[in-house]
Amino acid sequence: MTQSTQPVAVAQVAGTDEPNPYLLGVYAPVDTEIDAADLRVIGEIPTDLNGVYLRNGPNPRHQPEGRYHWFDGDGMVHAVQLENGKARYRNRWVRTKAFQAESEAGKALWTGVMESPRGNPFGNAHGLGLKDNANTDVIFHRGKVLTTWYLCGSPYAIDPLSLETLGAEDFLGTLVGDLMAHPKVDERTGELFWFDYGPRPPFMRYGVVSADGKVTHVTNVDLPGPRLPHDMAITENYAILMDLPLIQDMQAARQGRHKIIFDRSLPARFGVLPRYGNGSQVRWFEANPCYIYHVVNSWESGEEIVLDVCRVTRPHPRADALTPLAKMLSYLRLDAQLHRYRFNLRTGQTSETPLDDDNTEFPTVDARTVGKRSRYAYNVHISPESTLLFDGLVKYDTETGGKTSWSFGAGRWGSEAPFAPRDGSTSDDDGYLVTFVQDEGENRSELDIFDAADVSAGPVARVLLPQRVPLGFHATWVRADQLRK
Ligand SMILES: [Fe+2]
Repeated sequence: MTQSTQPVAVAQVAGTDEPNPYLLGVYAPVDTEIDAADLRVIGEIPTDLNGVYLRNGPNPRHQPEGRYHWFDGDGMVHAVQLENGKARYRNRWVRTKAFQAESEAGKALWTGVMESPRGNPFGNAHGLGLKDNANTDVIFHRGKVLTTWYLCGSPYAIDPLSLETLGAEDFLGTLVGDLMAHPKVDERTGELFWFDYGPRPPFMRYGVVSADGKVTHVTNVDLPGPRLPHDMAITENYAILMDLPLIQDMQAARQGRHKIIFDRSLPARFGVLPRYGNGSQVRWFEANPCYIYHVVNSWESGEEIVLDVCRVTRPHPRADALTPLAKMLSYLRLDAQLHRYRFNLRTGQTSETPLDDDNTEFPTVDARTVGKRSRYAYNVHISPESTLLFDGLVKYDTETGGKTSWSFGAGRWGSEAPFAPRDGSTSDDDGYLVTFVQDEGENRSELDIFDAADVSAGPVARVLLPQRVPLGFHATWVRADQLRK
């Protein structure tokens, strides 16, 4: 199937003559949905690597209404299925309710996060009038891929191979409201852990979807005010939620303005509660102020909980960012370092240790180890360029403190690179890393496959893709044995 729409023609920041880099070049949306099999490969696709790589990201279908922010684009999933050494590519927009409404209208009906949402047709369950575009993460749970949205929305289920949108997932009618971008799946139990946040009390809800696909637990979590949490963690017995001091400026909010401030006078707080605990059972552990987008992993170790994250020390936009474009670029800067927390359940004390100085983010671990001791973390390295670009891979050995890396090369930019276990894999680097790489100079994309045990050797295979894949957000790997189930 090939479907074509009008390309987004105007890439200026509205009201100015500044070009919007997030609509151009390596970010420029594509306007076709295609299927292609038997893709050309440089090297050889390992025959013990079977499954599908899926990556979500923003891809505006219509000319944006007002100023465009990278987070505004309609979710599009690009996927490469690997089977017996052969590769197949597909890409599809996620057919959200808003996407369908705009398709019927033939134009954008929603403004984005840089404009007032007044006049937008509908929003999420919190009354936030922004378009739930399901463009942020892509996770696998109970045979379905769920696409999610960072401001909390409906998870949209898609078929992992055809990428057909199956509809908004309400877990057999049991999900009331929304959930956030990064739910955690425990492969051992089949459960899915999530939270939901919003501007009015309760500022956070925490919940569990059981292995039979129903929301069986929900509790309100007390926060001192509205927060912007992005991720959470699980261990075998606990869930860990965050209250971080990147908060809404209440004075500005009273004047109807949306302004985020980093309040250094407040601690970062980590709430630990039993997996099926209620809000009153949350134990808060305090740490130095910071922001955290993404968790690497967490596990229990004796009387402690260990939590590895990518920690942002200064989550504030630059003070010299004055124009709309400079402000957007500044907010989209990502500067994070690998960092370890230990929460002592007996004493209530927190200790924290920086594990690296490099700016790395979008961490992944072997999905089989989520909530359990894992040894390796696979991050992307953030380029110092003014827009968000991943210029390499970094593999951390969190047991020895060692790291190895790979640079994609000049003008070559990657995506999140999940660990893909080889058939019969026995450890968390017994397998591969897979990522899209876009070559800016050649205006084309490929799927690069690395031996996870030897990342610095470079890709063992490069699958050439039939169209350029714009840079985007999160990715996942679904194993062939999961697809068969
Ligand atoms: Fe994220």
